[in-house]
Amino acid sequence: MDSEKVRQDFPTIRKGLGIYLDSACQSLRPDSVISAMNEYYESYPACGGRSVHSMASKVSIAMDETRDSLAGFFGTKDPSCYIFTKNCTEGLNMAAFGLGLKKGDVVVTTDSEHNSNHLPWLSLEKNVGIKRRISRSRTDGEFDLESFQKCMGRDVKVVAVQHCSNVTGCSVPVRAVTEIAHDYGATVVIDGAQAAPHMKVDLKKIDADLYSLSIHKMLGPTGMGVLYGKNEVLERMTPLTLGGGTVGLASYDSSTLAPVPDRFEAGLHNYAGIIGTKAALDYLKAVGMDEIERWDAELIERMMKNLEDVKNLHPVGPTEPRRRGSVFSFNIDGLGSHDIAMMTDSMAGVMIRSGMHCAHPYYVSHGIDGSARASTYLYNNAEEIDIFTDTLRHIAEVFGD
Ligand code: ALA
Repeated sequence: MDSEKVRQDFPTIRKGLGIYLDSACQSLRPDSVISAMNEYYESYPACGGRSVHSMASKVSIAMDETRDSLAGFFGTKDPSCYIFTKNCTEGLNMAAFGLGLKKGDVVVTTDSEHNSNHLPWLSLEKNVGIKRRISRSRTDGEFDLESFQKCMGRDVKVVAVQHCSNVTGCSVPVRAVTEIAHDYGATVVIDGAQAAPHMKVDLKKIDADLYSLSIHKMLGPTGMGVLYGKNEVLERMTPLTLGGGTVGLASYDSSTLAPVPDRFEAGLHNYAGIIGTKAALDYLKAVGMDEIERWDAELIERMMKNLEDVKNLHPVGPTEPRRRGSVFSFNIDGLGSHDIAMMTDSMAGVMIRSGMHCAHPYYVSHGIDGSARASTYLYNNAEEIDIFTDTLRHIAEVFGD
């Protein structure tokens, strides 16, 4: 990967607007994504899938092209299995509340889930009477297959796991988990928010039933997500939102559902976002997901190596960089995580995230009230990592305990 060439494609980097190490939250966007969206607003700002005039037809074609790109990108055949959502959270809610779970059905999750893959199941427990079983991670955050297997039984209807943690960076072996879940007849829902932007995800190989992701974490427009589902799973799911576009025919007293995916895409959509999504996928494909994964690993390794002798700085999660994906979460004795994030920004223009990262159960169960987190992507470079780690060392030495 030609890192310097990549960096020139990102306006905030060209303009020198700071060092962005918050890509696990939302990524920067390259020129091609911004111009694809501008082109939509300037030249064909109509709706898709409805009107038949020339501008609208262009939007409908562009929507089809994005679905084709998604199918190609994630290694599946059928483009109609990709539903446009506003984010990964929405896709996970569509799965949880659309699968028709009943009182007594068991759902297995893990103890490290993001609230988006935790709160919907908690709500179903309180309001419908489903039962939850939680697979426990090892002390350093690593997924524990043995604990997961102990949760499984014939009463398990859904297994809902993250592919990669936004706190520890640890990956769940989703292929193995899916195979085990399928042996018990369970439906598998995967939160792919942190994995899809950073590694090659082959949905056919994983064999997941439902896989949700955020496009705004993978160079795409804000407020864009995708829910992939196997056709037979989507066919038996109930759409959560009904309205324009979701019905075949409606009378005063009855209606029939439109085919998949239309039945899940009520109302007018984020067409600029859908068009920008294709540009983002094209960009990632051209660089290569394996290259991106390798680059993230190199940067995280450099970051952690630079900091390993800072005595009062403690990683949250594994200490081996290779197990951390693209995120490094940490605390410094005597400092709150928001203080650290504000200091790196004001002292060196380095933007990181702080707090509980919407993964409250993880922090609560570990008795910590949050952490700072630096996360990398293809547009970061070694020089940025060194500026960040020099600043952090200074903060730890001067302001930490
Ligand atoms: N949950 C996202 C993050 O980890 C937004 O930053």
